[in-house]
Amino acid sequence: MGQRIKIKALLQSGETGTEVTVKGWVRAFRSNRFIALNDGSTNSNLQIVVDFENTDPALLKRITFGAAVAITGTLAPSLGQGQSVEVIASEIEILGDCNPDEFPLQPKKQTLEFLRENAHLRFRTNTFGAIFRVRNTLSFAVHQFFQEKGFVYLHTPVITQSDAEGAGEAFHVTNFDLANVPRTDTGEVDYKQDFFGKSTNLTVSGQLEGELGAMALSDIYTFGPTFRAENSNTTRHLAEFWMIEPEMAFYDIHDNANLAEELLKYVISYALDKNKEDLEFLTQRLLEEEKQKPQNERSELSLLDKLQFCLNNDFERLTYTEAIQILRDSTPNKKKKFVYPVEGWGTDLQSEHERYLVEKHFKKPVILTDYPKEIKSFYMRQNDDGKTVAAMDILFPGIGEIIGGSQREERLDKLETRMDELGIPKDELWWYLDTRRFGSCPHAGFGLGFERLVLFVTGMGNIRDVIPFPRFPKNAEF
Ligand code: 4AD
Ligand code: MG
Repeated sequence: MGQRIKIKALLQSGETGTEVTVKGWVRAFRSNRFIALNDGSTNSNLQIVVDFENTDPALLKRITFGAAVAITGTLAPSLGQGQSVEVIASEIEILGDCNPDEFPLQPKKQTLEFLRENAHLRFRTNTFGAIFRVRNTLSFAVHQFFQEKGFVYLHTPVITQSDAEGAGEAFHVTNFDLANVPRTDTGEVDYKQDFFGKSTNLTVSGQLEGELGAMALSDIYTFGPTFRAENSNTTRHLAEFWMIEPEMAFYDIHDNANLAEELLKYVISYALDKNKEDLEFLTQRLLEEEKQKPQNERSELSLLDKLQFCLNNDFERLTYTEAIQILRDSTPNKKKKFVYPVEGWGTDLQSEHERYLVEKHFKKPVILTDYPKEIKSFYMRQNDDGKTVAAMDILFPGIGEIIGGSQREERLDKLETRMDELGIPKDELWWYLDTRRFGSCPHAGFGLGFERLVLFVTGMGNIRDVIPFPRFPKNAEF
C-alpha cells in the first residue's frame, strides 16, 4: 500500500486516475459493494467501490459499521449522487474488526444523552466530529488573535494557594492520607505537614498571576484549564473548563470592552471561514432539533445567520443601573414571569434576566458595566460614586454570561481597604499587593469561558457536549 492521504485532502485535490491509499472507519457498507469511509478529517465520507465478485467473502463479512480499514485503489469520477469522486478498491485490509452486535454505536441517530455516556466513542459521529473540529479552530484562532497583537502567552499555575474569585469554590489539593489527617494541638488540619506546607487548591482563574505578568510584559493572555467545585448541574457549568484570560497594562474598562468584542468577532469569523462545512452541518442539525419544539420556542435565526449577525452588529453597551431599570419595567417582571423578580438596585442578575436583555430586549450581544461592588470581586476598580466597580460582563444569546472582566484596582490604599472589608487575608496575597507598591499602573482584563464560546458557535444546547470529557457533579468518567 502507498502513502496514506486523508479524505479531506483527497476530496479537495485528488487527481482522478491516480492510485491512492486511504484509512478510516466504515460508516456504511451497502449492497456488498459501497463503503462509506470516514477518517475524521471531514464529515464527508469517501465512497469506496468494492469488486465483491472477486473479493474473499470472509473479508467482505468483516467490513462492518465501525471497523477500521485501509484501502488502496484508483480515484475515479463518481457516477453516483452525493460525491464527485470515489475509489475503485484494489486492495482492502481490515485493521480492526468491529462486531456490530457488541459495538455501542448504531448506524442511526442516537440521543445526545446516550452519546454522553459513550463519550469515548462519540467522536465517531458526524455531530461530534464537527464540534471538535470547530473547537480546535476556535482555540487556534484565540492564539492567532493575541499573537498578531503581540500578547505574550503566559502559563499560570494550576495548583495555587489563592482563590482568586473568593467564592470558596476551589477544589483542594492535598497529599494527606485522608484516613489519617495530621492535626495541630488545637485540632485544626496541620497543612504544614502537607506536600506544599500550606493549604492549596486547583486554580479557579489565572488572573491574579496574569496581572503580575502584565505589569512587566504589558499584554499577556492565559489559556488553560480552570476548576470550580460549584454544585451547578446546569447546561452552562462545568467543574473543569478552559478559560482565556488576557490582562493588559494601561487599558481602562473601555479598552477592555473593545478588545473583548474584537476577540469574539475575530474567532467567530475565523471559524465561519475555516469550518464552513461543519457549521453548515451543525446549522442543519439545529434546524432538525428545533422541529421538535413548539413554534414559539424555535430560534428566529438559523445558527449561521446568528453567527453572521453577531459579526455585523456592534454589541450593546450599558451600565448595570440602566439594565436594572429595563428589567424592572419589563413585561415578564410586571407579570411576575421571572423566577427571581427584579426588585431593587444591588441584586445580582440571574441568567433569566441576562437572557431577557440579550434575546428579547436588545436582540444582540450586550456588554454590561459598572456593577454594584457588593456583588463583584475585591480586585475590581472602585468607581467615584463609591457604590459601583468598573466590572464588565458580556452576555450572549442562548448563553448568558460568556465573558467576565474588569478594570483592576491599581491604588494600593483602596485595594487594601476593600480586602479588609471583605476579610481577604492580605498576607497571603503579599505578592499581588507588591505590584501596587512598586510601579503600579492602570490595567484591565477579562476571562472568556472557552466552552461557552464553543457552545455558542456550534449551536449545541449543553456545555457537556462541547468538551471531550466533561466533569460535573458526580461525574468524572473517562
Ligand atoms: O466571571 P468569571 O468567574 O471571571 C473570572 O474568573 C475572572 N478572574 C476573569 C478575569 O477577569 N480574568 O469567569 C469568567 C468566565 C465566565 O464569564 C464564563 O464564561 C466562564 O468563565 N465560566 C464557566 N464556564 C463553564 N463552567 C463554569 N463553571 C464557569 N464559570 C465561569
Ligand atoms: Mg462572572
